[in-house]
Amino acid sequence: VLAMPLFGQEIKVLYDEAELPQFTLPDPLVAADGTKITSAEAWRKIRRPELLAMFEAEVYGKSPSPQKISSRVLSEGDAFGGKATRRQVRIFLTGEEAGPHTDLLLYLPKSGSPVPVVAALNFKGNHSTSDDPEILLPKSWMRANDADGIKNHTATEKSRGAAKSRWPIERIVDRGYAVATAYYGDIDPDFDDQFQNGVHAAFYAEGQTKPAADEWGSIAAWAFGLSRIVDYLEQQDAIDHDRMIVMGHSRLGKTSLWAGATDERFALVISNNSGCGGAALSRRRFGESVRRINKSFPHWFCDNFVKYDDNEDACPVDQHELIALIAPRPVLICSAEEDRWADPHGEFLAGLYADPVYRLLGTDGLAVEEMPPLDQLVNSRIGYRIRPGKHDVTLSDWEAYLDFADKQLTSK
Ligand code: GCU
Repeated sequence: VLAMPLFGQEIKVLYDEAELPQFTLPDPLVAADGTKITSAEAWRKIRRPELLAMFEAEVYGKSPSPQKISSRVLSEGDAFGGKATRRQVRIFLTGEEAGPHTDLLLYLPKSGSPVPVVAALNFKGNHSTSDDPEILLPKSWMRANDADGIKNHTATEKSRGAAKSRWPIERIVDRGYAVATAYYGDIDPDFDDQFQNGVHAAFYAEGQTKPAADEWGSIAAWAFGLSRIVDYLEQQDAIDHDRMIVMGHSRLGKTSLWAGATDERFALVISNNSGCGGAALSRRRFGESVRRINKSFPHWFCDNFVKYDDNEDACPVDQHELIALIAPRPVLICSAEEDRWADPHGEFLAGLYADPVYRLLGTDGLAVEEMPPLDQLVNSRIGYRIRPGKHDVTLSDWEAYLDFADKQLTSK
């Protein structure tokens, strides 16, 4: 369970639809100069780049141009009684062995043809995703301490499998999908250190000591890391490059949406319980608000995002436009009934208000106008599901992700 820091009572949390402010959302199909966007071409050439630039400058921060990665296989062997191959590979994010790296854990179903893959970062280290004793114990800084087998911010044997309920890897493999996961803290440790550690420092310009107000925070850095993982996956013949999926939960759900928006090699995007700064509309201020998130996690977004604390209406974008940036590729937004902090209704509405863009691009968009009943997957190009229970990733969530992917992605 991730701690939700509380900072006194001064920030009122809204949990009642009747108390929400009145607001008008920016129209994804009207350009900044007022031009109406009426064709797929105008979306592609004018509006999409404009929205992307605004999200970069005002919300997540702009990431640097990547360098060419390099990689080294650390181990390879059979898993699940020979049904799959387990490969662990170190990816050097700048191509240099001396630079930052992340260790990718890959389970590849043995199949005669290239397989689709779900790429997803993990919170507690690769070894936390499974009891598989062959998974290398990470040496990276761990956020938790003295819990789940973490001592001095370092993983111990005791933390093996600590998050396995969120990672039904054998089931995913049985459904024909590869799993590619890496520890998010390899890319940027999740605490506010003014970006001295992690991948940021490796990309500073001469004399630079921290990102500028419109440059990448941690979410953008994690998304950058996911793109470097795709750089690696693209080199693998065993992977179907037309069916690469990105999934993330919570802060990593915010990350998967941003990764999907910025990197079109992701053919399908899944956000689970992503909430504020993810799928939830910021202007609703339901549950976690922009002010609250910036105060608790000053390193997640770019510094410009602070301008919108209690001032969401001034932001030139809202999160339905983040969903629209994924169009026409399939996107699945998943909520949990008890996860009110993440504003399930606001997450649904972001999908609904992205629908006109998906329709302009010739897809079926979101097939419903009202929130579906619990556990009922809306399996249209914009997908939505809300299940009973808490902020978490469950087996039923994974079944829904793969049902969605089975329908929305077909091999060529
Ligand atoms: C906190 C935070 C959320 C975030 C979540 C998580 O609850 O306020 O924005 O999604 O942590 O990452 O688990």
